[in-house]
Amino acid sequence: MKSIWMIGMAATLLCGAEGRSVYQKYCQQCHVEMMEKKEVIRNLGTLKAPPMVEVSHRLKENVIIADEDDDVKRRVIVAFVKDYIENPSIQYSMCHPMAIEKFGIMPSLKGKLSDEERQAVAEWVYDRYEGVAFR
Ligand code: HEC
Repeated sequence: MKSIWMIGMAATLLCGAEGRSVYQKYCQQCHVEMMEKKEVIRNLGTLKAPPMVEVSHRLKENVIIADEDDDVKRRVIVAFVKDYIENPSIQYSMCHPMAIEKFGIMPSLKGKLSDEERQAVAEWVYDRYEGVAFR
């Protein structure tokens, strides 16, 4: 029993590391990892996209699960991010309309990331900012 738990933990740690490196390779050039709200406003001229901390918070705010089950919520958001990487669209974007006007819609990264990489980075987008404030 204990060894299964250990394998689980190791897998989580490895995936966490992989998620971050996928982010660094494919997302960081547009999505800054951390930034305060007031800095976002100050740097609007040079930013290429909303910082990832904002993206993560916005998704968590907008996605409401009826029975408040955090596991279900995480799965829904991870699935959304995973899909958005390949199919960004004005219809599905939960970004603020002003942000979309400023940045435009994200270009599709279809074919650039493997399924595993999309899964890992989507989980990272959710987990990285658990308990991290965006204000
Ligand atoms: C070339 C720039 C660029 C790259 C690279 C990029 N993005 Fe984006 N992304 C944007 C812009 C611009 C927006 C805001 C407009 C929108 O929602 O499409 C955005 C929005 C998003 C959103 C928010 C969707 C919503 O509805 O709130 C998610 C999630 C996202 N990006 C994830 C990622 C991930 C994960 C990666 C890396 C695998 C990535 N992006 C790489 C430019 C980029």
